[in-house]
Amino acid sequence: MDKLIIEGPVKLNGEVEISRAKNAYLPILAAVLLNDKPIHLKNLPELRDIKTMIKLLSNLGVEVTTNGNVTTFNAKNLNSHEATYDLVKTMRASIFTLGPLLTRLKKAKVSLPGGCAIGTRPIDLHLSNLEKLGAKINLEAGYVEATCEGGLEGNILALAFPSVGATENLMMAAVFANGKTIIENAAKEPEIDDLANFLNAMGAKITGIGTSSIIVEGVDELHEVEYEAIGDRIEAATYIMAGLMTQSELKVSKFNPHHLDFVIEILKDMGAKFEVGEDYVKTLPCELTAAKIDTAPFPGFPTDAQAQMIALMTQAKGVSIVAEHIFENRFMHVPELNRLGAKISLQGNTAVIEGGTPLKAAPVMCTDLRASAALVLAALCAEGKTTIDRVYHLERGYEKLAEKLSKLDVKIEKVNS
Ligand code: EPZ
Repeated sequence: MDKLIIEGPVKLNGEVEISRAKNAYLPILAAVLLNDKPIHLKNLPELRDIKTMIKLLSNLGVEVTTNGNVTTFNAKNLNSHEATYDLVKTMRASIFTLGPLLTRLKKAKVSLPGGCAIGTRPIDLHLSNLEKLGAKINLEAGYVEATCEGGLEGNILALAFPSVGATENLMMAAVFANGKTIIENAAKEPEIDDLANFLNAMGAKITGIGTSSIIVEGVDELHEVEYEAIGDRIEAATYIMAGLMTQSELKVSKFNPHHLDFVIEILKDMGAKFEVGEDYVKTLPCELTAAKIDTAPFPGFPTDAQAQMIALMTQAKGVSIVAEHIFENRFMHVPELNRLGAKISLQGNTAVIEGGTPLKAAPVMCTDLRASAALVLAALCAEGKTTIDRVYHLERGYEKLAEKLSKLDVKIEKVNS
């Protein structure tokens, strides 16, 4: 397994360009299955999860060709309706293929995604609401088997929780449903808006984008489209926090700062200083003080930036408190951060961080994607060479991380252990 060795403390210099959002492109790639005309996607990030989703599409019969920074998908002749366990087990987002396959082919067989390190992550909201659209669902031998002979029927769906994945799966399933579907209490993350904009660009009829009531009028066919997803707000938040923790002037560009309004306000309350432009945020050296945050669905504080925020809080004066409300086991970065000298205690779903503690290099291990990012941030501040093991977790969501950091004057080395 590969390791990263990062020498700290370090000041970051220059500008980092944010890649296109993993959590926008994963459902958009699944939506490729809806269309029998060519789809051209620009600047797909080179990430393990994106590669896995593309492999899944190819296994279903989608033709994939790349020309420079444009990848063309042709799903005219699908030769299977089955997303098999061997791929689904490596990436939960495979479940996004359920809605598109079902509504296009009137049948789908998708392996139940396992849980993952951060939680059991059930899909009950996906399945119960597909049934409300008229699907017959059968759970058999670890697979979801869904059929809808006469096609799906539009209906009013009320999500008990504004689930990102359920909103996306149901929005895609409703594209070819007969009549109108309303998704009440829909998730409002920017990646949902991006998927809806992509579907409309192909000829779908979705309104209420950005609100918690999404309306989908069923259509019969879609047309060719070229599309580029939004910048990755979680990657951006990670680099912004890196800039603040290292007291650097760091320009983080090519994303929409409004996608981080809440995070930026909380950081300002902590004393952070920024220059904010149309498509960038520049951090300025500042003294950080403690804060209290609760993770929440958008527009609240994103759970995907919680681990990175805890790393930052180890460098903020005072005692910070972070409560995690979205996933049941998303503090695995805490014991690893404490190995670097942080003083963090856990009480149920709440972490208490005693800030202003100097960090010292030590060998640490990645446990999940965002926990890994927190370790990288801490390593930038820790005195000495920190070795971070199992970096394959990082490669799921951070494109060219070592390259981007070394361009910012970080002494970082990737070694194969
Ligand atoms: C998406 O996961 C993201 N993944 C996650 O990002 C992100 O943390 C999460 O949304 C919340 O923002 C992708 O977009 C590929 P949810 P998803 O359905 O769709 C419960 C990362 O680091 N729930 O909103 O799985 C669930 O257990 C990843 O990039 C049900 O109970 O999130 C969880 O507690 C990690 N039943 C909560 O809702 C369901 O049917 C949020 O899940 C569905 C969800």
